[in-house]
Amino acid sequence: MNSKNNFTPNQLAFAASLIISIPVSIIFLVSNQNWRLTSLFFLLLLIFSFSLVSYILKKYIKKQIKIIYKIISQTKATKKEDFYLKNLLPEKSIEEVRNDVEKWAEQRKNEIDVLHQNEAFRKEFLQNLSHELKTPIFSIQGYVETLLNGALDNPEVNTKFLTNTSKNVERLVNLVDDLDEISKLERGELQLYFQSFVIHDLVKEIFDSLAFKAAEKDVNCSIKKGCELPFTVYADKEKIRQVLTNIIDNGIKYGKQHGKIEASFYKVEGNNILIEISDDGSGISEEHRLRIFERFFRTDEARSRKIGGSGLGLAICKHIIEAHHQEIHVRSKIDVGTSFGFQLPAVK
Ligand SMILES: Nc1ncnc2c1ncn2[C@@H]1O[C@H](COP(=O)(O)OP(=O)(O)OP(=O)(O)O)[C@@H](O)[C@H]1O
Ligand SMILES: [Mg+2]
Repeated sequence: MNSKNNFTPNQLAFAASLIISIPVSIIFLVSNQNWRLTSLFFLLLLIFSFSLVSYILKKYIKKQIKIIYKIISQTKATKKEDFYLKNLLPEKSIEEVRNDVEKWAEQRKNEIDVLHQNEAFRKEFLQNLSHELKTPIFSIQGYVETLLNGALDNPEVNTKFLTNTSKNVERLVNLVDDLDEISKLERGELQLYFQSFVIHDLVKEIFDSLAFKAAEKDVNCSIKKGCELPFTVYADKEKIRQVLTNIIDNGIKYGKQHGKIEASFYKVEGNNILIEISDDGSGISEEHRLRIFERFFRTDEARSRKIGGSGLGLAICKHIIEAHHQEIHVRSKIDVGTSFGFQLPAVK
């Protein structure tokens, strides 16, 4: 803020005392015609009126400033703040007060920005949620109505329609489970059960459990050469299973036909093990890479391909890894592939 045009209280008091002293002294001079006496009178009047105006002005300004500080502190003054208002505040210059008010205004602005952001998140979340719920619910409704309207007696379609209904119910159940999990994670209610386990063995188990899905696309899942040395880590095994399952499942879903997924493990600084899962799929563009950990986020390609998934998987992974006080990161290049990585503490 520009302070050049702002006068100090003393300058204002001096100007006011001149305005009082000059006309009164002129009247005094006219009445007694004595220059020396008038000069003395002018000087005394100037000093007196300056002191008086300056005192009243400062008292008034301090009272106003005290009100401003009471407003900006927002809470009822504690004993410490009371002491501050009574003893330290009067020593503050107008410049310091202005800085404090500007700081306060900046803080309020930030708070309002955060509120706006939360409001936008809430709206987007509800929109996404209703969209994700609508798709399976409308499908179930369609199949059930068709079955009730006679398809139930048609052996050619009844099993197929019921199977599709069941798939959509399963999708709803998965969605609700994921939402339940994510809200628990966000409320910090996740209970971690730490144990020591060999990370290679867990990855191999996950490769086995997803073998059927990988075989459908002829994707080869393996442990990278040179990374066979088994490392034991200390973490919540089932939660880490969930993280790795989602990452490997994504690698298969968003990877290419006849592609490959490789898991690698490295001992890094701070007695940690870095776990990386890489694929040679389509990759993720820079703009999407920044958003893939958001709830419900899917790239347009993933949406249009209709390969299932509601976009909650990576949001859950991020929460789980953060609950382990670690970070999940992603490296990706279009048409080259994607690598997800995170660290876990090693057991010596
Ligand atoms: N390995 C990958 N290669 C390319 N894109 C990926 C990869 N992993 C994730 N993505 C992109 O990130 C999005 C978010 O992934 P996320 O696991 O959160 O959701 P999803 O797999 O679509 O659904 P869900 O995991 O809830 O079943 C995906 O929809 C996809 O667009
Ligand atoms: Mg996923």
